[in-house]
Amino acid sequence: MWHLIYTSKKSGAVGLSSRSDLTGFSLVRVYQPTEALEVPPKITTDSIIIGGKTYPKDDATNVTTTILEKTARQLHLIPAHPIATIKDRIASTFPGFKHYDQFSPVVTTKENFDDLCFSDDHPGRSVTDTYYLNNKIMLRTHTSAHQLQTLKESDKLLVTADVYRRDEIDASHYPAFHQMEGAQLFDAKTVVADVQKEIKEALAANPASAGIQTTDTTLITPENPKQDCHDEAAMLATADHLKHSLNLMVRRLFSQEKNLQVRWIDAQFPFTSPSWEMEILYQGKWLEVLGCGVIRQDILNNADKPDKIGWAFGLGLERLAMVLYGIPDIRLFWSQDARFLRQFEPSKIQKFKPFSKYSPCIKDISFWVPEGFHENNFCEVVRDVAGDIAETVEMIDKFTHPKTNRQSVCFRINYRSMDRNVTNNEINEIQEKLRTEVVDRMKVELR
Ligand code: PHE
Repeated sequence: MWHLIYTSKKSGAVGLSSRSDLTGFSLVRVYQPTEALEVPPKITTDSIIIGGKTYPKDDATNVTTTILEKTARQLHLIPAHPIATIKDRIASTFPGFKHYDQFSPVVTTKENFDDLCFSDDHPGRSVTDTYYLNNKIMLRTHTSAHQLQTLKESDKLLVTADVYRRDEIDASHYPAFHQMEGAQLFDAKTVVADVQKEIKEALAANPASAGIQTTDTTLITPENPKQDCHDEAAMLATADHLKHSLNLMVRRLFSQEKNLQVRWIDAQFPFTSPSWEMEILYQGKWLEVLGCGVIRQDILNNADKPDKIGWAFGLGLERLAMVLYGIPDIRLFWSQDARFLRQFEPSKIQKFKPFSKYSPCIKDISFWVPEGFHENNFCEVVRDVAGDIAETVEMIDKFTHPKTNRQSVCFRINYRSMDRNVTNNEINEIQEKLRTEVVDRMKVELR
């Protein structure tokens, strides 16, 4: 699955957590790209230095230099970059929304999880899924990390930012990507009439464009319930406004597409209820585009907005850019090859013209694994040793020794550069380094 991991499928765990002991950590709110370049992120023996700030390491620390370097790239702020263009296009369908796009990726676990009602044992918190600077400081895994703060400041807002998750390695997964968050609040007392009026006006201004078919079979059920504190009509009006706004957004974004099919399905997030996902049919497959729902009232109460009701959504920009531009590999967004960025013009969505692919080099590695081995940890070592040259990592064999009960795995790594031809010698060196590093860092035994 892509990018929206906090759903029922992977996690399920929904619940209120109220850990107030994690306060006291201030956030570098505004992250100046220039400042970041002047002070490049650095890992020393006992601390992590990023955005000019120093964070002490502890036993949770798992960020790597490769990942920290990504935090300085700020693709969503580079003019003509597809990520920036899609961001602007989406923002233009939400006029009057305050748009925050300069937040530092360094947040507290309180902001990323606790404030959003993640349970203490939610799998998203795990060190195998999330990059920690230390126990309490991490790289945000989603733009929702800024919900509480921004909801205090505005009733209509967008947040665009780079987010980080430890993940598999293939054409559609990358440990750094970009999300856009949106939220809108209404007066709980007048929401029904307000929404009716707004939708009527919006429909008059933007008659639904032809060629896009929307299916919605979602239901409010005990599995995807209305919050007890909400009036039913108010919740339904909020949900209507949410779906209407997002249908309009994709209609506009895909105005060129002849037969776009969109569907709504039920979902679960710790910070919204009810919750939904929007999917689009692309090349015969349903792609998850965004997650959304009615904001949990505890969050609005904490934002000092107890009399409001509202919706929020979060979407992955890479996925939309890949579909709209026809970009086949997620690593291309990070390519520094002029043949990539040079193709694009600001504000214009255009089909990507592939430039020649360089030849791949395939290597296998097999080892006995200790208990608690996690594939993401292996992928992390690969990323660290090989960088973007690692195109895919695939487990091609796994077996348990019948006598000793020990488990052995074999991974196939496909090395290929986006920018040049790699030589066998160079890859052999990387593979050798990888063999040493996995033994050192993961306590595996090579076969
Ligand atoms: N933050 C969620 C994710 O990354 C998406 C989301 C945002 C869902 C806002 C609901 C509301 O998976």
